[in-house]
Amino acid sequence: MRPIQARISIGAMAHNLRMARHHAGTARVFAVVKANAYGHGLSRARRALAAADGFAVLTLEEAANLRQMGVDQPILLLEGVFGADEIATCAELDLWPVLHHAAQLDWLQHQPPARPIQIFLKFDSGMHRLGFPLAEHAAIVARAKCLPGVAGVTLMTHFAQADEAVGVDWQLQPFLREMTGHGLPWSSANSAALLRYPDTLGAWVRPGLMLYGASPFADVQAGQLGLRPAMTLQSEIISVQTLQPGDKVGYGQLFRAERAMRVGMVACGYADGYPRHALTGTPVLVNGHPSRTLGRVSMDMLCVDLSECADAGVGSPVVLWGEGLPVDAVATAAGTSSYELLCALAARVPVIEAD
Ligand SMILES: Cc1ncc(COP(=O)(O)O)c(C=O)c1O
Repeated sequence: MRPIQARISIGAMAHNLRMARHHAGTARVFAVVKANAYGHGLSRARRALAAADGFAVLTLEEAANLRQMGVDQPILLLEGVFGADEIATCAELDLWPVLHHAAQLDWLQHQPPARPIQIFLKFDSGMHRLGFPLAEHAAIVARAKCLPGVAGVTLMTHFAQADEAVGVDWQLQPFLREMTGHGLPWSSANSAALLRYPDTLGAWVRPGLMLYGASPFADVQAGQLGLRPAMTLQSEIISVQTLQPGDKVGYGQLFRAERAMRVGMVACGYADGYPRHALTGTPVLVNGHPSRTLGRVSMDMLCVDLSECADAGVGSPVVLWGEGLPVDAVATAAGTSSYELLCALAARVPVIEAD
C-alpha cells in the first residue's frame, strides 16, 4: 500500500476547543466545521468538538449531516439560505441562518417557517464581502424583529484583518457604536480575534482554524498559543538517488546539485494536497530530522534532501506537516496559508484517527 496517510487527532481538537473556551470567557463557542471541518472530517470533528456550544457550517447539507449524527446544539449557517425553499428546512432542523441580504429577509417574510427561527443579522463593518450596510441597521433590525417567522435576533460582523497588525478596531468600534442601542446579543470573533482581542467576544465566538491547531498569526506559532496540531500528513521515502555535481531533479529540472548528494523520493504530491508551488527549501521532517524539499512537486511524489540524514533510506518516515512541523511553517514557505493546506487534503489520502 502507498505509505502516505493523514493522522488526525481527536484529542488535539478537543484540547484546542478547551483553549478556545478559555479565551472565550462567558461567550458561547460555535465550532466552525465548514469545508469538511477544514479537511479533518465532519464526523470526526463533531466527536472531537462535542463540548462546543454550537457548530457553524456553510451549507444545509452539512447542517443536516450534523443533525443526523445526533448534534443537538445550535447550528449556524454562515452564509444563511441560498433560496426561499431552505427556510422551511431551517425550522425543521432548528438551524440558525445568518441573513446578510434583503432578499433573504423577503424569503423569510413571504414563506414564513412552520415555527419561528433564530436568525443572525450580518452587518458589513468594512470587509465589503457580505452584510447589510451598517448605516441601515435601524431599519433592518426593526424589520427582522417584526417578522413572525423570527424567534430571536443576534447581530453579527466579520473581521478582514484580525490576524494582521492593523487588527480589528477599525471595524469593531463602528459596529459596536451602531449595535449597542439594540440591546441584542452579538457575535464577531474568529480565531484571531478570539485569541488577541477580548473586546470582540460578545455572546458567541466563531473559531475555526485554531481548533485544528494552526495559528492565524504570521508572527506567532501555534505552539506558543498552546494549540496542538490536529492533522499530521506523513509518508515515507520510496526511492533514494545519489546526485552528482550538476545533476538536476524532477520536472523542469529546477534543482541542480552543487556537489554529490543523496536525495529521497517521498510518496506525496500535489494530488494528495501538497502545494505544487512549494519551492526548493520547504521544510519537511525526515526520520525526525529537519530537512527540505528539492525542485518541483510532482503529482504523486516530491524530492527531499538527505544530506543531513545519513540514516535515512527507503521506508524512512517523512512528516510533511503536523507533529513536529507546524503546518504554518510549510504554508509560509510555500507562499500560502494553513487554511488552504488543511482544506486541500485530498480524498485519496487514507486517514488514520488518533487519540
Ligand atoms: C463568518 C465566519 N466566521 C468565522 C470563521 C472562522 O474563522 P477562522 O477559521 O479564522 O477562525 C469564518 C471562516 O472563514 C467565517 O467565514
